[in-house]
Parts: sequence; C-alpha cells; structure tokens
Amino acid sequence: MKKLIGAFVALAAFGALGAYIVVQARHIGYNQGYQPDQPVKFSHKLHAGELKMDCQYCHFAADKGRHAGIPPTELCLNCHTQVKTNSPEIKKVQEAVDSGENIQWNRVNFLPDYAYFNHAQHVNVAQLDCKQCHGPVDEMEIYYQHEKLNMGWCINCHREKDIAPPEDHKRASGGDCQKCHY
Ligand code: HEC
Ligand code: HEC
Ligand code: HEC
Ligand code: HEC
Ligand code: HEC
Repeated sequence: MKKLIGAFVALAAFGALGAYIVVQARHIGYNQGYQPDQPVKFSHKLHAGELKMDCQYCHFAADKGRHAGIPPTELCLNCHTQVKTNSPEIKKVQEAVDSGENIQWNRVNFLPDYAYFNHAQHVNVAQLDCKQCHGPVDEMEIYYQHEKLNMGWCINCHREKDIAPPEDHKRASGGDCQKCHY
C-alpha cells in the first residue's frame, strides 16, 4: 500500500503530461523487431537488393520533409504493367489501382505524437544513409523494425556526431528538449 501511494504521488508529481507520455511510451515505443504481415508480398530484398533500385525511387519525399512516405500504388505499375502480370500478388496491385485506391500497408516505424523527427534534416542536411537508422533493408524479404527508435537511440547518435557534447544534462540530450518535443 505504501509503495502504491508512493508510486501515485510520484506519478502526480510527474504531472499529467508526464503520465500521458509514460503511458503512450509503454504502448508505442520499443517495437524493435516488429514485423507485421503485409497485404501484398512486397520484398525489399528483391527490389532494393537484387534489382538495386534506389530507396528514394519509391520513398521520394525522404530528402524533402518530415516523412519519407510510402509510395502511391500507381508507382508500382511503372514496371508491373509489364512484369509478372499473371502473379496473384501483382493482380492485387493492379486491382487496387483500378479501383482508385492505395494498398493499405501496415505501418511499422512510428514515434509517439510528442516526439518530432524530420527525415530531410537527416537525409538531406546530415547526409545519413537510410541503413544507419533502418538496418539492412535491402536484405529484408519482409520489412521489420531494426532499431529501438527510443530517445536514447536518438541521443547516442547525436553524441557520436558531436551535435551535443555530454557536459551538461540538457546539452547531453541533444540540446533543448524542444528540438524533439513540443
Ligand atoms: C519499389 C519500391 C520501394 C523501394 C525501391 C524501397 N521501398 Fe521501402 N517500402 C516500399 C513499400 C511498398 C513499403 C510498405 C510495405 C512494407 O513495409 O514492406 C515500404 C516500407 C519501408 C519502410 C517501413 C515503413 C513503415 O511502415 O515504417 C522503410 C523503413 C523502408 N521501406 C525503407 C526503404 C529503404 C531503406 C530502401 C532502400 C534500401 C527502400 N525502402 C526501398 C517500397 C519501396
Ligand atoms: C523498376 C521496376 C519495378 C517497380 C517500380 C516495382 N517492381 Fe515489383 N518487381 C519488379 C521485378 C523485375 C520483379 C521480379 C520479376 C521476376 O521474378 O522475374 C518484381 C517482383 C515483384 C513481386 C513478386 C511477384 C511474384 O509473384 O513473383 C511483387 C509482389 C512485387 N514486385 C510488388 C511490387 C510493388 C508492390 C511495387 C510498388 C511498391 C513494385 N513491385 C514496384 C520490378 C519492379
Ligand atoms: C536518423 C535516422 C533515420 C534516417 C537516416 C532515415 N530514417 Fe526513415 N524513419 C526514422 C524514424 C525515427 C521513423 C519514424 C518517424 C515517425 O514516426 O515520425 C522513420 C520512418 C520511416 C518511414 C515510414 C513512413 C514515414 O515517412 O514516416 C519510411 C518509409 C522511412 N523512414 C524510410 C526511410 C528512407 C528511405 C531513408 C533514407 C533515404 C530513411 N528513412 C532515413 C529514422 C530515420
Ligand atoms: C534528439 C531528440 C530528443 C531530445 C533532444 C529529447 N528527447 Fe525525449 N524523447 C525523444 C523520443 C524520440 C522519444 C520517444 C521514444 C521513447 O519513448 O524513448 C522521447 C521520449 C521522452 C520521454 C518519455 C519516455 C521516457 O524515456 O521516459 C520523456 C519523459 C522525455 N522524452 C523527456 C525529455 C526531456 C526532459 C528532454 C530534454 C532534457 C528530452 N526528452 C530531449 C527524443 C528526444
Ligand atoms: C545515426 C545518427 C542519428 C540518429 C539515430 C538520429 N539523429 Fe537527429 N541528427 C543527426 C545529425 C548528424 C544531425 C545534424 C544535422 C545538421 O547538420 O543540422 C541531426 C539533427 C537533428 C535535429 C535538428 C536539431 C539539431 O540539433 O541540429 C533534430 C530535431 C533531430 N536530429 C532529432 C532526432 C530524433 C528525434 C531522433 C530519433 C528518433 C534522431 N534525431 C536520431 C543524427 C542522428
């Protein structure tokens, strides 16, 4: 009971936002290894690995803004009006486009709402390779989340890159909390 009251007081002291953050973090964060089934058997190993397609051919917004984006299904037909048209998997692609819809891919990576991440800052400005954050995607038959994507992961790299020398707590976190939280 004493423990419970202690925990309750600590939680109250942490504040409503803190509690919200903790609850959300428990549910959303730390999905390392997450590999949901996808509606079409799309393989990065085949397209990005064997066929050596550039990541940004499909994820063309990665150097422009916050999200790298999932390609519109129409883009697949650049090749698949000719290639493997008899495959049941490609028929699903064609049917989606014919009915004016996009395939509903299951989202894998995502940060809680209270954290801000911007692809352009990392891909365009910092010139990082996708693999540094997403792992060996070109070897993945079915995509899975390779890294933890927790706060420590962000900050470790910022430290390594000397964005924030670890002298004081605030700077050790990559500078202002507001850079990633608002
Ligand atoms: C032919 C188009 C195509 C190419 C090329 C491609 N991708 Fe993808 N990517 C997709 C599609 C479609 C999805 C959604 C289905 C899935 O998760 O497999 C996706 C999903 C992803 C995701 C997960 C998105 C989420 O839900 O969080 C990441 C990360 C990703 N791709 C990174 C890469 C990287 C890195 C490369 C280059 C090595 C690459 N992709 C090359 C089409 C492509
Ligand atoms: C630049 C051309 C190109 C683009 C764009 C492309 N593919 Fe492919 N895709 C291929 C080639 C080539 C193959 C392999 C064909 C073979 O096995 O001979 C293939 C194979 C596939 C297969 C396996 C089919 C089977 O039954 O063997 C699927 C599924 C697939 N692609 C889905 C997609 C999806 C979904 C997209 C869009 C996100 C996409 N492709 C975009 C070229 C492309
Ligand atoms: C510095 C780390 C980092 C780099 C570099 C990076 N990503 Fe991401 N990526 C993330 C994080 C973190 C998320 C989750 C973002 C969110 O939920 O707001 C993400 C999400 C995604 C998604 C899901 C949809 C979206 O845009 O949010 C795709 C697709 C993706 N990344 C592709 C790529 C590709 C392709 C590259 C290289 C051109 C790349 N990423 C480079 C960290 C990175
Ligand atoms: C480089 C970006 C970045 C900076 C700077 C940053 N955070 Fe975070 N923080 C994140 C991300 C991403 C998450 C969500 C993932 C997770 O739960 O670890 C998060 C989660 C959190 C959480 C909830 C999960 C946990 O670890 O308890 C709290 C509380 C938090 N941050 C507080 C802070 C404070 C306070 C500062 C400033 C001293 C700060 N953050 C600076 C990126 C950052
Ligand atoms: C693999 C290394 C790496 C990882 C992982 C990484 N970052 Fe960064 N980040 C960088 C680099 C390098 C820059 C500097 C870009 C520049 O030159 O302005 C940067 C810049 C930033 C900035 C711009 C503000 C500043 O301090 O310059 C924000 C905000 C940011 N990152 C948030 C995040 C968040 C949130 C995560 C985790 C979800 C994350 N980063 C993960 C390397 C990384």
